[in-house]
Amino acid sequence: MSEKKVLVRIRGLAKDYKRGVETVHVLEKLDLDIREGDFLALMGPSGSGKSTLLNLIGGLDRPSSGTLEVAGQRVDSMGDGALARTTSASSSRCTTCCRCSRPSATSSCRCC
Ligand SMILES: Nc1ncnc2c1ncn2[C@@H]1O[C@H](COP(=O)(O)OP(=O)(O)OP(=O)(O)O)[C@@H](O)[C@H]1O
Ligand SMILES: [Mg+2]
Repeated sequence: MSEKKVLVRIRGLAKDYKRGVETVHVLEKLDLDIREGDFLALMGPSGSGKSTLLNLIGGLDRPSSGTLEVAGQRVDSMGDGALARTTSASSSRCTTCCRCSRPSATSSCRCC
């Protein structure tokens, strides 16, 4: 039997946030494959980067470095227009920021 198709392929993913003069390294050198039909639980303490990772996979934010492929498409290097079309095609409802509840369609909001 053939192996299940990889839907999400993450290699060397990093995400940094600037907070004033400080840089917060939220994700560093993350490798992950999610295969068709996988049922996963993302677990970790508050602030460990769970939402950050989901926002990257969902195309709501961009990685600082590394590659991220979703359904065979390189999300990390997609232009804004292509990313917005892909995101809106895969989600029929409006996305809101988990912190301020304002619409946050193509990038992280600036409430934090
Ligand atoms: N837009 C942003 N700007 C600056 N820092 C951010 C931003 N979003 C997240 N962070 C920081 O990144 C880190 C990870 O946050 P994240 O929300 O991904 O954690 P989490 O694991 O989802 O936490 P929780 O369990 O509380 O939901 C935290 O230190 C957070 O303050
Ligand atoms: Mg969260």
